Formats: sequence, structure tokens, C-alpha cells
Amino acid sequence: MTADNMDTITIFDTTLRDGEQSPGCSMNTAEKLEVAKALVELGVDVIEAGFPIASPGDFEAVQQIARKYGDRAQICGLARCRTEDIEHARDALQDAENARIHVFLATSSIHRKFKLKMDKEEIIKTTVEMVQLAKSKCDNIEFSPEDAARTELDFLCEVVEKAIAAGATTVNIPDTVGYATPAHFHTVIRTLKMNVPNIDQAVISTHCHNDLGLAVANSLSAVEAGARQVECTINGLGERAGNAALEEVVMAIRTRGDYYKCKTNIDSTKLYPTSHLVSSITGMRIQRNKAVVGQNAFAHEAGIHQHGMLQDSSTYEIMRPQDVGFVGTNLVLGKHSGRHAFRDRVVSLGHNLDDEALETVFQDFIELADKKKEIYDADITALVENRVGDTHDHWTIKSFHVSSGIDTIPTATVDLDCEDGEHHCDAAIGDGPIDAVFKTLERITGLSARLEDFQVRGVTSGKDAQGEVSVAILHNGKTFRGKGVSTDIIEASARAYLKALNRAEAEKIPGGDTTRRGV
Ligand code: KIV
Ligand code: ZN
Repeated sequence: MTADNMDTITIFDTTLRDGEQSPGCSMNTAEKLEVAKALVELGVDVIEAGFPIASPGDFEAVQQIARKYGDRAQICGLARCRTEDIEHARDALQDAENARIHVFLATSSIHRKFKLKMDKEEIIKTTVEMVQLAKSKCDNIEFSPEDAARTELDFLCEVVEKAIAAGATTVNIPDTVGYATPAHFHTVIRTLKMNVPNIDQAVISTHCHNDLGLAVANSLSAVEAGARQVECTINGLGERAGNAALEEVVMAIRTRGDYYKCKTNIDSTKLYPTSHLVSSITGMRIQRNKAVVGQNAFAHEAGIHQHGMLQDSSTYEIMRPQDVGFVGTNLVLGKHSGRHAFRDRVVSLGHNLDDEALETVFQDFIELADKKKEIYDADITALVENRVGDTHDHWTIKSFHVSSGIDTIPTATVDLDCEDGEHHCDAAIGDGPIDAVFKTLERITGLSARLEDFQVRGVTSGKDAQGEVSVAILHNGKTFRGKGVSTDIIEASARAYLKALNRAEAEKIPGGDTTRRGV
């Protein structure tokens, strides 16, 4: 079978909607636009840009993404089965060349009884009315029976049939609570395909959550059963344990095209940079052994594996690192490399920087080259990621000094530049030098926070390796994440903590508002 006669699976990315619902992963509009740009370049077919009724910030982000990228991908807005939700979605999507409204209503007996207090008849009536209303505003309508995987199959068939008759062009089958197993989910999709009389008038889609670690397996099982759209997120971000990871779904379909007889429109060489971009923007680290995009995904440790690899890489490698744009630790550049060589390398690593950002990262590179003899691809990626979203930061570090040791009180002095052009300097003591820096940052910014998570990892190996620090802080009951990188881990910690505080600060600023109404 050649690629030409394979079915194409529509990749529907919901990083900016379901992914953003991960605790501590909220993004402001500028950050969402940056992710949307990367998704368009990755080749996703549909971008679910947000839930316009949820907050003014969500509305604005959907509107701007629709304006900017609505000619390069379908831009989708989520709506409950309520008139005002659908009107908000339509308004936010007005300027998109390709718009989709995604309407959902729960159908399982548990949700009907405890959440909606509606019987089956009312569910059908509301579905039909609201899908018709959405259809009167937009041709491209997706309907999701929420908690479909726990819905009685005969009722699910009935709802899906009525939604299609009312105008739905995609019927998405969510496993909202990650309850399904691959064989079970296959049966659900197969049953819809065999028993819903008008099923050929719509695309069947899947939306699987990962509570049992089965989201990708369930999505692939649905593809085998006839689903032709998969909803997923970069790095598997999403509510609770997350959604199906886009990179895993795409590479499974690509690597096992012989079996699935399907393909996608994704440019797989952009998977690694996109995954790292989302990780830096959200501050959510990628686990080392994460499939496809983790640091160890292409590392071979056992001698027998290394021996096989040297004979022929196909012995232990089912995907080539370059197929996913993987950044190894190749020695690339040194102190004397010029701007051109640096720019070429940044571009070949999949980063898309404007001239100003490139110059900033080049200066960081020169500084790093003074401290570190050998600079690897992973170092360059870390430098680029370290600057992602910097231009929107309220506070930046101008300088800092720490003193610590045995029999001395750890003390930090920090000087910050503020967006308003002022410098602010203060000092504090702490349990250790990092604690002292964090306390000083809180004093200057006036934001108090509780450190919830603190992790350090080496970007490469070696004594002079850069350290990457990831933090999660709790401020006003909400989690904010930040990452920082430097050869000095106190500096990396300071940058990470300040990034998280900047995110908390942004919540106060109109347009940076990511707080949601109770939906
Ligand atoms: O998990 C879910 O059911 C959802 C729907 C809104 C599709 O996210
Ligand atoms: Zn979901």
C-alpha cells in the first residue's frame, strides 16, 4: 500500500483548551499565539484554541488565533449546549477562514443523574436544538457526547444519530474519565459505525484521557475501528493524567503505517521542537523516558544494544531520531562560531526566532561559550527555551549576589528590572542560598508563594553542564510553573522562580487574565 491510498487521520490538537486545563499550565494570549504558530507549522489539521465563554482571556486568545491562523488550520472553539456559549464561540471565531464550533453535552447515566439532572429525552432534545443552533452559525460542527465511554451503547448510537441529523459534521467520542480499555473502545467505535444509519455523513473522532495510561492505545484502537480524527495534545497535557499524546499517536501511525494503513499531515521533524516549546511555555517538564520526545527516547545503554546499533541501527531503533527532530548531544559550535553558523544551527534544530530574539540568544550563547568549552545541540535548545516568552515578563533579573557556607547565614541580594523602567533591589536571608534568593524575589515582586515542586537536571553531561531548574509555586490557590537554565544552578533557580512569579503577575494584567469562570 502506498501513502497515496492510505486514509488520512485528521489531527485535532487541544493543547490550548484541554491541555491548558492541566493544573499550572495556563497560558496568556501571547504564549497561546506562540503555541498556535508551532502547531500550524507542525501541520495539525484542527486547533482547538480555547473555550470562549470560560474567560475574557480565552475569548481573546481564540479570536486572535482565528484571525492569525484561520487560513492555515481549522480553528475550533468549545461550547456547552447553551445559547450564550455557542454565540461566544461564533463571535470569537468570526474572522477565521476555517472555523469549527465544538458543542458538547454529557450522555452517561452518571452525568445525567448527578450533574445534569436530565433524562434521556431531554439530552436528545437539547443536543438537537443546540447542534441546530450552532449549525445556523457555522457549517463545521463537532458534537461530543461527554463521558461517551460510560454511556449505554444503544443510547450513544441514538444521540450520535440525532446529532448528525441536526448538522454535526464530526462526532467525537470522548473517554472523559479515562475508563476505556482498547478492546472496549474498539467495540464502542465499531458499534457506532455499524448501527448508526447516517454515520457516513460525519467523521468519527476520539478524545481519550489517560487516567489508566491507555489514552494513546485507546485512540489507536479507535482508528483501527474506523475513527478518522484523533484529538490529542502536545506532551499529553490535559485534565488530570492528561490526554492522548499527539507525538505518540502520530509516530505510531507513521511507524506502523503497514498495520493501520493510515497517515497524518504532520511534519514529524517538528515534533521534538514543538514538544520542547510547550514544555518551556507551560513549565511542565517532559519525563526523561517519555516516548518519542523524552531525553532518553533514543539513548541506548546496554552493551548488547550498542553493539547491534553499530552494526545496523534498525536492530534496536524503530524510528530515527531525525524523524522526530530529536536533538542529540552532538558537539556543534564553539566560542569562535559566528552568527551565521549559529543561526543555521538554531534553524536546523527547528526553532523559529525573529532577528531580535536570535540576537538575544546569540549573546547568551557567547556568554555560555566563555563558561563552557563544548556547546552541544541540547545546550542551544536550552538557551532558546530559556528565552521563550521573555518579552512578556514583568520582571527580569539584572544582577544577584548570594553568600552561603558553613557557620554563616545564607543571604541573597537581587536587583530586578521592571517593565515600568525602574530597578528594584532588596535582600533576604534563607535556609540556604536558593531559599534566600526566592525570598528576595518575593519581597521585590510583592508576590508571596509556596514552593510546591523543585527539580534540577543537567542539560548535558559533564562538570560544566548547564543545569535546568523547574519549579511549581502555589500563589492565591493557583499553581504556576517556571523553568530556568544556567551553568550556575542558583541562577537557574532564580530564573525559574521569577518566571513562575511573572506568570502569577500576568494574571493581574488585562489580556494576561487566564482565570476562568466556573465552567
Ligand atoms: O474530556 C472530555 O469529555 C472533553 C469534552 C469537552 C470533549 O474534553
Ligand atoms: Zn477532555
